[in-house]
Amino acid sequence: MIDAGLKKEIEGLMIKFPCIDSAILPSLTLIQERKGFISQGDMEELSRILKFSQARIFSVASFYSMLKLRPRGKYHLQVCTNISCSLLREKTLMEHLSRILGIGDGETTGDGLFSLEAVECLGSCGYAPAMMINSDHFENLGFDQVDRIIESLREKERAGGV
Ligand code: FES
Repeated sequence: MIDAGLKKEIEGLMIKFPCIDSAILPSLTLIQERKGFISQGDMEELSRILKFSQARIFSVASFYSMLKLRPRGKYHLQVCTNISCSLLREKTLMEHLSRILGIGDGETTGDGLFSLEAVECLGSCGYAPAMMINSDHFENLGFDQVDRIIESLREKERAGGV
């Protein structure tokens, strides 16, 4: 549900941009910042506020991989599965992470810590394999290095998540 305060901010965006189309993406970003992800109900409400069809809102929300349409883990792993990142090892980074985390593409670990998502090119083809964890970018990844990264995040959580 979009509360009154959030609705007012979205209406502010509608005034800010000369074309209301331009308010769709910042409105979705705002909803995600406030609520952690954008639900189906949020998109329906946004379509009523901005007076666009639900399909128009969904087409924008589903296009951008940084927009979350369902709850995700604290650490959102986006793993490139494009050609450069898939050719370098006997197994892909995605397969390795899926095995060590025990989850597949689009899933979240039971403790809510890690979400795994296969994505297209992250722009690091020359430094493959690559992945992102939230907004941090990792390149030239070997499986040992990936294991250390995951373990360091688990360790950080055991220490209180600071
Ligand atoms: S193919 Fe993986 S970053 Fe481009």
